[in-house]
This record gives sequence, structure tokens and C-alpha cells, in this order.
Amino acid sequence: MDGDPVIPLSLARIAQVTGGQLAHGDPEAIVSGEVVIDSRRAAPGGLFAAVAGERSDGHDFAAAAVAAGAVAVLATRPVPVPSVLVADVPAALAALARSVVDALPRARIAGITGSSGKTSTKDLAAQLVERLGPVIAPAGSFNNEFGHPLTVLRADASTRYLVLELSARGLGHIAYLCRVAPPRYGVVLNVGHAHAGEFGGLDQVARAKGELPEALPADGVAILNADDPRVLAMADRTAARVVTFSCGPASDALVRAADIRLDDLGRPGFTLLTPEGSAPVTLRLHGAHNVPNALAAAALARELGLDLDGIADGLRAATARSRWRMEVHQRGDGVTVINDAYNANPESVRAALDALAHLTQGGAGHGGRAFAVLGHMAELGDTTRASHEDAGEYAARLGGPGLAGLIAVGEEAAPLLDGARRVPAWTGEALAVPDGATALEELANRLKPSDVVLVKASRAAHLEGVAAALLGEAGQ
Ligand SMILES: Nc1ncnc2c1ncn2[C@@H]1O[C@H](COP(=O)(O)OP(=O)(O)OP(=O)(O)O)[C@@H](O)[C@H]1O
Ligand SMILES: [Mg+2]
Repeated sequence: MDGDPVIPLSLARIAQVTGGQLAHGDPEAIVSGEVVIDSRRAAPGGLFAAVAGERSDGHDFAAAAVAAGAVAVLATRPVPVPSVLVADVPAALAALARSVVDALPRARIAGITGSSGKTSTKDLAAQLVERLGPVIAPAGSFNNEFGHPLTVLRADASTRYLVLELSARGLGHIAYLCRVAPPRYGVVLNVGHAHAGEFGGLDQVARAKGELPEALPADGVAILNADDPRVLAMADRTAARVVTFSCGPASDALVRAADIRLDDLGRPGFTLLTPEGSAPVTLRLHGAHNVPNALAAAALARELGLDLDGIADGLRAATARSRWRMEVHQRGDGVTVINDAYNANPESVRAALDALAHLTQGGAGHGGRAFAVLGHMAELGDTTRASHEDAGEYAARLGGPGLAGLIAVGEEAAPLLDGARRVPAWTGEALAVPDGATALEELANRLKPSDVVLVKASRAAHLEGVAAALLGEAGQ
């Protein structure tokens, strides 16, 4: 994404669109490079938006950004360099993004939301839609009031499609993002427990995710997961045409999967069923949960005009573009490591444990033992303790040879072990460790060739370092 041009905008125009005041700058100076909030990424021709974060204040880096080539700084207080002073930086970014969208009436905008799988689906969909024309899609999870407008601002006159990830931590968030870049296509993947604590329960999560179908116009398309009743019910909340997808071959959904199976490394294969016919697909991504993600991406690409061959070829070729989501690596000694350390919530922990079971049951780790290194799941509110206990119980009930070891990292993850102990038949080892380094020491004493280790936790736990160390990589 580096260096991608935004539509050229003069500082005078930026001040006009944002309702800001130009200071120390030439009104005719043109911003033609990327808009960034990280001053280290400021580049010639770009615009640096100064944001006050928890640890540092972007205003302190205004001069450095301009020295690195930024044309000006979007700021909320005076800085000694060319700048546009605004009352609120996210609102200014939103206004700028909206002006870019309005200048690109030919660009078709798709939004993807759900509790789990937004980034995976967005990355799959972008790789399909790229077969139709130039796409702007966020890097990683750029899905909030900063990342969303910054992504939209990367569009230019050549852009034909925007494939955007929309996240919510409360009611109104998705509606807001939909006003910044009004989507005509909206995909809802699932309603789960991610951030459920902040919402106050699953029905509230459904209300929030449903703001995407609600925002779609009558000539738009709502792409809904027929396997999730809360998502399917959103059909009543949209003026758009409804298209459904389902992993059940017998469902009456438009896009379906039949004969789902997993290969040795847990990569799903299935028959893609569409109104235009069927096609065999094997994904390069790991885990059965990527089947609904692939169906959602297929349904979106189909609506945008990609034919069945293009969809099936695209799915077969698509790679993981965002890191630490179900990465499966085999070490020289035969130990398999599943690095799913990007994030964790109750649904995604179960999905990852299922993949772990598959790998030890007949997959690459056949004959080996399963170990799960799990950190805590954040933002679950009142259900935090019960959710950890349930996840631990699920782990202890794992199929196949069962879980040989459950290592809970950090105090907040300890209730996982209480849940596992609810399963009397489970004979695996339960260990509570304070940190990743201790988890690594404990594993080093236990791992043998063919064993499989899953590493997963919420973002804040940073367990990707454990996976990297297991693989002998330098920490990241
Ligand atoms: N459809 C799905 N159902 C359940 N779990 C899933 C699904 N898709 C992905 N996951 C799990 O969720 C993790 C995060 O996936 P991804 O980053 O695609 O989700 P996201 O919705 O973008 O998350 P975030 O809210 O953090 O941006 C993956 O590592 C995987 O374990
Ligand atoms: Mg994401």
C-alpha cells in the first residue's frame, strides 16, 4: 500500500472539506500521496494526520513527518509546519474519505462485517475481485474510524472496487463507517462473542452488525450467512436484494459448499455450488472455518460479475495476506505449529481447536499429540469467566486422541483449566504459566516429532512471539 496515490487534493480543498483552517501552508500545494497516522510512514506528497494516542501524541512528530516529505499535517492544535487545523481528526478523515468516494461514482463499494473472519474474507474477496479490475482493500484489519477512512483515501481514479472491512465495538459504529463510504454490497459473516462484553450480549451484537444491511440501498445486495440465524434474520432489515450462502449442501442458499473435507494440513476442499454450476475448490488457507469465508467471498465476487471459473480459480490461488491467522508450519523435526495468535474469541478458539484435532487425527500430525497454548480472550464482559471455562471444557473434549496438554498463559487465562477439569475423562496435562517464555520452556520438555501445537490468544497477549520461537524464528 505504500506510495499509493490518493486523488490529488490541494490544501485549500482539504481545509474546505474538513471545515479546517490552513496554517503555514500554500493553499495550492497538492497532496497526491498516502494519508497516514504513523509519522514513520510519512512519504513525499502525503498527508500526516496527527492523532493523540495512549503512549504518544502525533503532534510531536509533525515536523518529522514534513521533513520526511509530507505536504502538510492534519492537526487539532497548532504545529510549526504546514497544517490544516481541525476540531476532530477522525471526523476530518471521514469527511475527506467521503469526498473521495463522491468523486469516484464508478467505484463499487463492498463492506464486510461479522464477529469473526472479516479480514480472512476481505483478503479472499479482494483476490477474487482483482480479477475484475483495480481494487482497494485494507491491509490487515484496518477497519475502524481511523483505518477505514485511511483505506478509502488510497482510492484513485483507476479504482473500480473497494472491498472494506467494517468493525464495531458498539451500536452506531458500522452505520458511521457506512456513511463514510456507502456500500452497495454488504456481507455479514456471523454474530458471535467477539467484543460481546462491550455490546452487552449477542442480540446487541446482531443489532450492530445489522447496521450494514440497513445501510444498503434498494439497488444493493445484502450477502448473508444462511447458517447463522441472527444473520439470516437481517434479511428483514434491508432494502437491498438478499443473497445467501451456506455450508449445507441441501440448504436453499444461493451459494453453497458440498463434500467439505480437510487435507493433511487442515486445508479445506469442497465443491462450490452456484446457480451457474459447480466447481471443485481447494483452499490454501487452513481450517474449516474458512469455508464460509470463501463462500461469502464467492457470493460477493459473483454479484460483481466474476464468472464461476474465475471464482473457483481465484479461490484456489488465494493466499493468506494477513499474518497470524491459522498459519500452519512444520518444523524440521516434524512438530507442526498452528499460529493463530492474531486474536481470539469463543468461536474462533473452537474453530482453531477443531483444526488442531484434525491435524492430530489423520492430518500432518497423525500419531502425534495435541498441545494448546491459549492466552486469554479479551472484551467478553460478564461472560469472561464462563467463556474461558467453556473453551477449556471444549478443549478437554477434543476428538481423536484428545488434548495431551493445555497450557494457559497468564492469570486471566487460568479459568480455561477449571473448564478442562470439568471433563473427568480427560487425561491430558493442565498447566498454568505466567508468560509465553515459560510456556516455551514447558513445551521444550514435552514436544516430540509429529506433535502439533496450537498458539492462540487475544491480540493483547502477543502470543505470536511464542509461535515464532517454536519455529526458531526471531521474535516479531
Ligand atoms: N468464519 C469464521 N468462524 C469462526 N472463526 C473464524 C472464522 N474466520 C476466521 N476465524 C478465526 O478468527 C481469527 C481471526 O480471523 P480474522 O482476522 O479474519 O477475523 P476478523 O473478524 O477480521 O477479526 P478482528 O475483529 O480482530 O479484525 C482467525 O485466526 C480464525 O481463528
Ligand atoms: Mg480483522
